[in-house]
Amino acid sequence: MLFDSYQIKNFTFKNRVVMPPMCMYSADTEGYVNDFHVVHYGTRAIGGVGLIIQEATGVTPDGRISIHDLGIWSDTHVPGLKKIVDVIKSYGVIAGIQLNHAGRKSKTEHPMGPSAISYGGDYQVPKEMSEQDIKDVIFAFGQAARRADEAGYDLLEIHGAHGYLIFEFLSPISNQRKDKYRDGKVFLKEVVEEINKYWPKEKILALRVSAYEYVKEGVTPESISEAINFVKDLGLDLIDVSSGGNVLVKIPAFPGYQLDLAKRVKELTGLPVIGGGLISDLALAENAVSSKRADFIYFGRELLRNPYLVINGAIDLGVEVAYPEAYIRGKK
Ligand SMILES: Cc1cc2nc3c(=O)[nH]c(=O)nc-3n(C[C@H](O)[C@H](O)[C@H](O)COP(=O)(O)O)c2cc1C
Repeated sequence: MLFDSYQIKNFTFKNRVVMPPMCMYSADTEGYVNDFHVVHYGTRAIGGVGLIIQEATGVTPDGRISIHDLGIWSDTHVPGLKKIVDVIKSYGVIAGIQLNHAGRKSKTEHPMGPSAISYGGDYQVPKEMSEQDIKDVIFAFGQAARRADEAGYDLLEIHGAHGYLIFEFLSPISNQRKDKYRDGKVFLKEVVEEINKYWPKEKILALRVSAYEYVKEGVTPESISEAINFVKDLGLDLIDVSSGGNVLVKIPAFPGYQLDLAKRVKELTGLPVIGGGLISDLALAENAVSSKRADFIYFGRELLRNPYLVINGAIDLGVEVAYPEAYIRGKK
């Protein structure tokens, strides 16, 4: 089933293998796309994955994780982003982008968060966001969605995981506000509503979440699913399930370690899910999809090592997939 196609709206994914968003910290300090990005995403597209979700891309300059993140806070970013979209789509791969505000985990000069609580380590204490700050960030997400549409992406993923701003609102560990945003679902809902003003309803809207924080004070698959269900009817199509990132804690990782979280979120929300974590092996991914733990599987670090995972791995599994014409003479 891993190699079966999947349909969402009018988009056909040629298989269930996903390249998840992975920051490359390779942009200039103004967030522009360069040749590296086009080659990097183009190579994974040639390698045969069904969906590429471009790395966390900053909706504001202060919302970047680092000053070398890709940016989408200006209309001048659009032509460069379009180059990534074009190369991905030219190999029949669905092109996604992850929109991010890094919140208190921004390593820029002015990190902001729901509350003035540091992530820890060498991270600064963020400024507690005023209502105006919140309005400005929500507006920025909408403008970023407009630009993502203009650049031609098929799928927009809201980064609601890993301790970045949206997740900071969702977690009681980082959100101790006294106003209506104490309920982090309210912030998430306002972000989705703003994005919906610009992101066409014919395109795919996805949300990445951390479904567990590995400490008892944090979110659970149940509380995160409640937040998803709160905004689901606004038009969420797909949930990308991850974990951790808001607390400095060691995560017990093993191949497929987040698949049970994906399964739980799928059960509780009824939405299709992307699951994964430390997966290198297509056979494990196949098992996860056929046992209905996830609809899609992401291979992060494996695809950094091995961009041609799908086209060559399929041969080893005896599955017929389209091999890039230009590389046929190298086929095993
Ligand atoms: C270099 C690197 C950068 C990452 N950047 C992002 C990111 O921009 N957004 C995100 O949601 N996750 C990010 N992640 C997490 C991955 O998307 C993925 O969830 C994680 O690596 C686990 O999958 P894996 O074990 O298959 O690598 C990053 C991971 C790596 C290794």
